[in-house]
Amino acid sequence: MSKSYAITSYGCQMNVYDAERMAEILEADGYRAAETAEAADLVILNPCHIREKAAEKVYSELGRLRAQDRAQGRRRQVAVAGCVAQAEGEEIPRRAPNVDLVIGPQAYHRLPALLADGAAAQRPGPAVATDFAAVAKFDLPRRPLPQGAGATGSAFLTVQEGCDKFCSFCVVPYTRGAEYSRPASQVLAEARRLLDAGALELTLLGQNVNAYHGAGPDGQDWSLARLLAALGALPGLKRLRYTTSHPLEVTGDLIAAHRDLPQLMPYLHQPVQSGSDTVLQAMNRRHTAAAYLQLVDRLRAARPDLALSSDFIVGFPGETDADFQATLALVRVVGYAQAYSFKYSARPGTPAAEREDAVPEAVKAERLAELQALIQEQQQAFNAASVGRRVEVLLDRPGRRPGQRLGRTPHMQAVHVDVPGELPPGPAMRPVRIVSSFRNSVAGVLAASAAAA
Ligand code: 5AD
Ligand code: SF4
Repeated sequence: MSKSYAITSYGCQMNVYDAERMAEILEADGYRAAETAEAADLVILNPCHIREKAAEKVYSELGRLRAQDRAQGRRRQVAVAGCVAQAEGEEIPRRAPNVDLVIGPQAYHRLPALLADGAAAQRPGPAVATDFAAVAKFDLPRRPLPQGAGATGSAFLTVQEGCDKFCSFCVVPYTRGAEYSRPASQVLAEARRLLDAGALELTLLGQNVNAYHGAGPDGQDWSLARLLAALGALPGLKRLRYTTSHPLEVTGDLIAAHRDLPQLMPYLHQPVQSGSDTVLQAMNRRHTAAAYLQLVDRLRAARPDLALSSDFIVGFPGETDADFQATLALVRVVGYAQAYSFKYSARPGTPAAEREDAVPEAVKAERLAELQALIQEQQQAFNAASVGRRVEVLLDRPGRRPGQRLGRTPHMQAVHVDVPGELPPGPAMRPVRIVSSFRNSVAGVLAASAAAA
């Protein structure tokens, strides 16, 4: 019987996308998905380590797998993937002898070969594949996508990976390596495949997606704006989004795309991290708060209904109360539809981790609570302001209650919609009237039934 695998992913959408790629590679090699990690012959841990003490979690999970195996008198194959694999490398098998393979995000295409070597015991110890050389993981065999009722209405598509920005708090440039952009023709081919399988919305992914500069079929380097325009011309594509971007890389043509490309949704996640110039400089963000606010103005001039989201870090080393107040002031000026905020956590190997002026945990916690309360208030106000509006909703999941579907508004709000029984299964775009709002979502009715009511 074929071997079975289970992949446990945590963290960002990029990791989820990568887990899908690993699954495809393994299935092309004859593996099948196990019901549970318990039952799997091969367990892959795919952790994220951008903010959390992920390495420690991985070691404790590895210890748990080992104890289980010992108790049951068996030996599962175990691999550690993702950014933790990249960052810890050789250290993992030293601390966890049950690990057969440590595989960084750039080496996933080598999974079957590395696993087979190990199984045949041609290699004395575990394999550690954390080189950055290959980007071939994108050119792998693909398994058929679910169609019809099971189709994915909203699909992710990685177009860019890695980052050269070296923000002083961030591990990504070390774990995901230098910026790499997939050739435009490859992205377009993957997009066509997703659309053929029923996708209506594509979200282009990259750690620094607006730094995209992939080779175009015309021999020129394409910008993200150019790629978006080409994708917008594909039949069947209703919606486009991209994430995550850096303020420095928002070019004039990208701003114009927000004005001119009807498929590009009026919602942008644009991390700013802090509203204090001193902190921004210490973070090596290379722009000021004023420059970011100017950018927001330009984007809103291009697309007046643009809803904004961002990422914030509180308690960066040396952050004073005045610095934190500047962050609150920036949030008040912009007015976010939603935003993510985090307590600074020192990542080993990053320049900020060397600093000795850490902000006490209690102060970080206090600042985080204050910032989150403000963001929450803005999010709630944003949701409340949408009540009464008629919007196109991409309904692509069953709701919790019978007769309910879940979807997203153009502004990324989660929306629960009561639908009459006749709505066919599978993803669909429908006009919806928003009838009520909550903290993290809104509720609506199909616009036709709202008109009749
Ligand atoms: N501490 C806290 N937050 C971090 N982020 C990245 N690195 C750290 C860190 N060391 C946050 C940033 C980034 C988001 C993906 O994670 O806000 O935009
Ligand atoms: Fe990390 Fe984003 Fe800065 Fe790159 S731009 S170093 S991914 S925070």
